[in-house]
Amino acid sequence: MQQIKILTIIGARPQIIKSAALSRAIKNKFADKILEIIVHTGQHYDDNMSDVFFEELEIPNPNYNLNVGSGTHGKQTSLMIEGIEEILLKEKPSCIILYGDTNSTLAGAIAASKIFIPVIHIEAGLRSFNKSMPEEINRIICDHVSTLLFSPTITGYNNLVKEGFRENNTSPYSNDNPKIYHCGDIMLDNSLFFSTKAEQKTTILKDNNLESNNFILATIHRNNNTDEPSRLNNLFNALNKIATKKKINIIIPLHPRTSKLLVQNLSSELYCQIKTNPFIKITPPVSYLEMIALEKNASLIMTDSGGVQKEAFFFNKPCIILRPETEWTELVTCGSAKLTDTDENRITEAFNHFAENNTLYFPNLFGDGKAAEFICEQIIENIK
Ligand code: UD1
Ligand code: UDP
Repeated sequence: MQQIKILTIIGARPQIIKSAALSRAIKNKFADKILEIIVHTGQHYDDNMSDVFFEELEIPNPNYNLNVGSGTHGKQTSLMIEGIEEILLKEKPSCIILYGDTNSTLAGAIAASKIFIPVIHIEAGLRSFNKSMPEEINRIICDHVSTLLFSPTITGYNNLVKEGFRENNTSPYSNDNPKIYHCGDIMLDNSLFFSTKAEQKTTILKDNNLESNNFILATIHRNNNTDEPSRLNNLFNALNKIATKKKINIIIPLHPRTSKLLVQNLSSELYCQIKTNPFIKITPPVSYLEMIALEKNASLIMTDSGGVQKEAFFFNKPCIILRPETEWTELVTCGSAKLTDTDENRITEAFNHFAENNTLYFPNLFGDGKAAEFICEQIIENIK
């Protein structure tokens, strides 16, 4: 049997991480059937937002790097479309693999679908129902030009059905006759695979004087939180008060977007309080293994990240979601996460709730950690 040539687009941190699971499955089980070409758009480019993950998660080096870098949505996406199209025309893959909902996802979806290359969307069907999020636009567009759509959750799968995707259609599949799957979450594949190694190989807790089960891990990078001064001030005010009043350490590995906007958008008084608060430890972005070690040992996670919300759940940690809504609604329904937006009172109430109710139920919502293998099998069966 001839190998199927797939072309994977990565660009932002979470995509690089997710792609590790598929590359690992190909290497271990499907190397005779699938040949993977990797294209890095260069959307994320700092060492601690990109390079660190290749080595740590044993991701093959990209065959191409477009080095697009940062920019406005239009400029960044158009440079990516141009670069991806050129590579697709040269490589002539049987399909393109796209992850999630970033501008790199959108660019890949547009470039490939216009030249009749089937789109495979991993993390399909997620919706916030809030089109002021750039990610919501990206994911809707990507889903609606895809041929195979892999949804990690039942909610995501049902969203696709509600948008008109058919459930019982038969092959051959195309973007006019797309196939939707509920297959579990590829991020769980990685969390399970790297869980033990994360604690064996990292010293992040010791380095930051953190005691297991006695600190909060927080991440903030969502554009509506960083770019709106009132929201950013509310968030950091709440973190500052909880750290001081409850005398609990909060470690915040900060996304470069937030680092830049913290200086610009926090009041000088709050900025000074945050910087001098002995309970608040702001660090540069940490590696994946360090992040897993922090998640496994935190008593509580506060985040506006999509991926970190889920990882909190994978490691049985309560989570405060610093957003008005979430695509991962199951987390809230089962009670392991609370939506607080940037409201100080709601954040404090949620903190108190989780401190007082430490028995939580974490049902199996994200599959068995074998999503990547399932996706490979479906590609082999359905992409010619
Ligand atoms: C992007 C995704 C978001 C995802 C996040 C993951 C879009 C529209 N958004 O948001 O869905 O949750 O990645 O982290 O695609 N920067 C650096 N160094 C880097 C990368 C970024 O300094 O290596 C700074 C730049 O100032 C840049 C800003 O961060 O302008 C934002 O980066 P960008 O990739 O545009 O969006 P993210 O906020 O990272
Ligand atoms: N992550 C990491 N280091 C950090 C922060 C996050 O390795 O300092 C990992 C995290 O464990 C998860 C992924 O990055 O696997 C989530 O990416 P991010 O929060 O940037 O984006 P989102 O998931 O919101 O799109």
